[in-house]
Amino acid sequence: MTRVSHHLLLCATPTKALCCPDPAIGAASWDTLKRLVREWGLEDPQRPEGIVLRNKADCLRICAEGPVLLIWPEGIVYTGVSPERIERILREHVIGGSPIEAWILKRMPFAAASGLALQPTAAPTTAP
Ligand code: FES
Repeated sequence: MTRVSHHLLLCATPTKALCCPDPAIGAASWDTLKRLVREWGLEDPQRPEGIVLRNKADCLRICAEGPVLLIWPEGIVYTGVSPERIERILREHVIGGSPIEAWILKRMPFAAASGLALQPTAAPTTAP
């Protein structure tokens, strides 16, 4: 079984111009994210903390101050991402475990992570 430590979603080439007004910064941020995840061994299935997944998203429903980066499992949304910020976010947040508060727009934790218990759904019943 492969464990996942973090999943990074980057809205860098959106269809809405407000999110990422400079497509060149979005493209460079995406290229930097892919390169560093690979070069720093974050995709290695032998990594004790688990692998880091990264995907490009077309919209994360933030739609401002992009490029926008959403990181699970914390549900942290960074705005104003750039290649330089990608490097610091990977180093300090993903590897070091310390999110960079000054760049965080908001947090969207899963209900279970915020202390709310998920209720199991009832098993389907069959008619007698
Ligand atoms: S277009 Fe980037 S978050 Fe919506």
